[in-house]
Amino acid sequence: MQSRQSQTLRLGECPRKVVGWDTMVPVVDGTERRYVSLDNGASTPILEPVRDVVDEAYKWYSSVHRGAGFKSKMSTYLYETARKKVATFAGADDGAVVIFVRNATEGINVLATRLGLQPDDVVLTTVMEHHSHLLPWRQFCRVEHVNVDDNGRVDLDHLQLKLTECGSNVRLIAISGASNVTGVVPPVSDIARIAHQHGALISVDAAQLAPHRKITMGPSGAEDSIDFLTFSGHKMYAPLGSGALIARRELLTQDVPHLRGGGTVSWVGLEEVVWNPSPGRDEAGSPNVLGAVAFGAAASILGEIGFESIVEHERELTTHALDRMRRIPGVTVYGPADVPVAEDKMGVICFNVEGYAHEHVASILANEWGVGVRNGRFCAQPYLERLLGLNKDEVLDYRTRMFGGEKFGLPGMVRASFGIYNTIEDVDTLCDGIEAITRGEHVEYDRDEVTGDFIPRGFEPDPADYFRW
Ligand SMILES: Cc1ncc(COP(=O)(O)O)c(C=O)c1O
Repeated sequence: MQSRQSQTLRLGECPRKVVGWDTMVPVVDGTERRYVSLDNGASTPILEPVRDVVDEAYKWYSSVHRGAGFKSKMSTYLYETARKKVATFAGADDGAVVIFVRNATEGINVLATRLGLQPDDVVLTTVMEHHSHLLPWRQFCRVEHVNVDDNGRVDLDHLQLKLTECGSNVRLIAISGASNVTGVVPPVSDIARIAHQHGALISVDAAQLAPHRKITMGPSGAEDSIDFLTFSGHKMYAPLGSGALIARRELLTQDVPHLRGGGTVSWVGLEEVVWNPSPGRDEAGSPNVLGAVAFGAAASILGEIGFESIVEHERELTTHALDRMRRIPGVTVYGPADVPVAEDKMGVICFNVEGYAHEHVASILANEWGVGVRNGRFCAQPYLERLLGLNKDEVLDYRTRMFGGEKFGLPGMVRASFGIYNTIEDVDTLCDGIEAITRGEHVEYDRDEVTGDFIPRGFEPDPADYFRW
């Protein structure tokens, strides 16, 4: 019998330990540049040790839970071990159930259907939420929104006020563990305590938080413990579409699962159904075994690297980036921009460059500097409007223009988000690119009226030329 001996990965090794770290991409001058990936807030690349674990699992890949063969037993072992690894990563105890889902969005939707929310109930959330933590409650109950201050931090006084106004109707406080726009990290333990003191529960969307900070759900029933937690593997250096909803088992009150079918039931008659206990009840159909393996491996590896060094590294990159960006004339950074970076901010920086559309800046960085960033509204429309200081009329105006088919001049920002493998050189490439833009040093761009893209004149490399199917 062979047993795999893994070696602990250290943070300093990460720049060369992500799959494709040295990938070259075409740029406008006809040369190629090493791709600088600064869109980790969307999806991270894959850590090589995660890929290695998945490679090893391929040969054992088979049906899960139901097969009699040894490979089925192995696949079941891998899937269930991944579940334990994810629970350990999140500091969840035996009172919590880890439900594998495709991604954080699905996890939050599963939660919303299983909470047994009633029309009079209130879910108290914030204007900083990603749409995935903002929308799922609306079909079941009333949703109230807590404001943020001008730096994008949650206004805790307003939270208290809302709790007083809504009284005992508040069933749940739904809050981001960290913002995907400003990197702001709200004081989740304090908010958990406030929620529990008011007889409410707390759901934390940890999609952004999980790869950056240590999470501790805490023991069942403790005042500052988290009741429901969701996050995704694809932002944690694992591919293959897997995420988790971790829930206090006894708090999933609505019997009927989000999806119904194979795996969710222990008894079916033509008129009768008896649901399985969770997680089976909430994992309808054949599960994504390899996705779970990748996710579990990534969770373990991040834990081994250690969040102290992850936080320190990220602070160094973010401080350096903010220090350079605040010296570039015409650059506006949104959210906290203190140097050195504030304790409650992760390595996510949103900005705009005066005189340039956000799409244009992102396109120049991609096509001339080989830097991958994100631009737009990042599935956090209300938060962006707040940070940009748009009033109601301005929001209405851009809504009208957008639905009128206008593609350009709509509000948005550019986002750079750092991962464990990024380096100071990566940050410098970004800042060099931004500086060049402010000096007007870039080629001509044409606007594509259909897609809304900014395309460098005469340069449009075809992705089909870069891949052999
Ligand atoms: C804060 C936050 N919540 C939820 C999501 C949704 O995650 P997923 O795409 O994995 O469903 C994202 C994705 O960017 C996010 O940043």
